[in-house]
Amino acid sequence: MLISPSILASDFSKLGEEIKSIEEAGAELVHIDVMDGIFVPNITLGAPVIRCLKGKTSLPFDVHLMIEEPIRYIDDFASAGADIITFHAEASTDVAATINKIKSAGCKPAVAIRPSTPADVVFPYLDSLYMVLVMTVEPGFGGQSFMSETMPKVKEVREEISKRKLKTHIQVDGGIDDRTAAEAVKNGADILVAGSYIFKADDRKSAVELLKTV
Ligand code: DX5
Ligand code: ZN
Repeated sequence: MLISPSILASDFSKLGEEIKSIEEAGAELVHIDVMDGIFVPNITLGAPVIRCLKGKTSLPFDVHLMIEEPIRYIDDFASAGADIITFHAEASTDVAATINKIKSAGCKPAVAIRPSTPADVVFPYLDSLYMVLVMTVEPGFGGQSFMSETMPKVKEVREEISKRKLKTHIQVDGGIDDRTAAEAVKNGADILVAGSYIFKADDRKSAVELLKTV
């Protein structure tokens, strides 16, 4: 189980310290939500901010792009320090080319699907992916409620990965806490993103530990 706290729920005026605190809390990755105001109705941050954060931690950067035609910006995010680059199947006119671009830039590719997108959209690419992100809320905002109806998709993707004997990870993102994490893990998720649950916790270390043991 890998825990990837989403900095969307952190204090943006002290991002460096916030990231340090989740590293000390035992998280394995840092989840960075990039939104363009077009693919989703919200704008967050871009490559220049990521570049500044790179020196503040040794944790790998798990960059979740919620932007239209992400292929245009892969080189930017790779050179800023992204380790995993996730983009949305719905936002890309050429998913295979985008995956290849991420790989040639030296990063690990992942494809995300919104709650209404069927699981089999990612099947043609499974063999070349580091990870599939099954969104458990509508992308765009932190602090929303987990959608249990996405769980059959997690199961479907897990079954396909097992059938093909792949090592592809399944990440879930949105509304994750100790209760919903248990449900996602039971269905086959192995990387958990949590924003509010970790950053709003009184004790971030216990929150991370609790997620690891669900
Ligand atoms: C939503 C983002 C999530 C979000 C999760 O579009 O992709 O990463 O920050 O936040 P919580 O855990 O608060 O639902
Ligand atoms: Zn995210």
